[in-house]
Amino acid sequence: MLRLEEIVAGYSKSIALDGVSIEIPQGRIVSVVGANGAGKSTIVNTISRLVTTYSGKIRFEGHDITSRRPADVVDLGIVQVPEGRQLFAPLTVEENLRLGFHRLAGRAESGRRYQERLDYVLDLFPIMKQRIGQRAGTMSGGEQQMVAISRALMAEPKLLMLDEPSLGLAPMIVDQIFYILAKLRSDGLTILLVEQHADEALQLADYGYVMAVGRVRAEGPGNELRDNPALHQSYLGRMAAA
Ligand SMILES: Nc1ncnc2c1ncn2[C@@H]1O[C@H](COP(=O)(O)OP(=O)(O)O)[C@@H](O)[C@H]1O
Ligand SMILES: [Mg+2]
Repeated sequence: MLRLEEIVAGYSKSIALDGVSIEIPQGRIVSVVGANGAGKSTIVNTISRLVTTYSGKIRFEGHDITSRRPADVVDLGIVQVPEGRQLFAPLTVEENLRLGFHRLAGRAESGRRYQERLDYVLDLFPIMKQRIGQRAGTMSGGEQQMVAISRALMAEPKLLMLDEPSLGLAPMIVDQIFYILAKLRSDGLTILLVEQHADEALQLADYGYVMAVGRVRAEGPGNELRDNPALHQSYLGRMAAA
């Protein structure tokens, strides 16, 4: 569905991705793991077209989207749950969800589709039903992450990208969120999961990539990467301890 081909990207003079190639097949979960600063967020933001790409190609469903604008990328169905959630704290849960629906708001039967999407996310995260009128900023970290994921799902994405959804959350909440990601995959969604929590992210993934300083150092089926002691020592050791 999505393919990065030899991407070189970065911030003014500094190179953050140095020839990165990644493939995300339809209906699968692909995880990118690596220590802080490895370039994980830069991958997500490169796909969203928020980072300058110096060379290489990004292809989505066969189209070259390398020089598309961020809004076009969302229109194509690539939607991001950003690092740190980035909710609108003073707005209610429902207002945040409505912002996520923006991509579809002008289209045919948008009223019916809005209700369908809302029902879908409230079924995924029933806890939000009682919180629908609560201000997002007053919720716990785990609840905010659920709202952030739901907001992205309101846009009916084809490819959902999550940047460190586990950040700052208790292990039990992380399990819940990863369980939902598996459910979304079984509903047919394609997912790119970027994580420092390598073990869990690789266990969930159909396929994984291990990054360090702007390059892919290893790739393979999630379980194989997770169970590879050499990788843990070289690239994942600090994360396992964290
Ligand atoms: N806005 C920015 N301006 C300049 N350098 C940045 C910016 N964001 C990230 N970087 C640098 O790019 C590299 C990769 O960062 P990032 O993609 O955020 O890593 P990760 O998400 O894996 O922690 C790091 O060296 C980081 O310092
Ligand atoms: Mg990051």
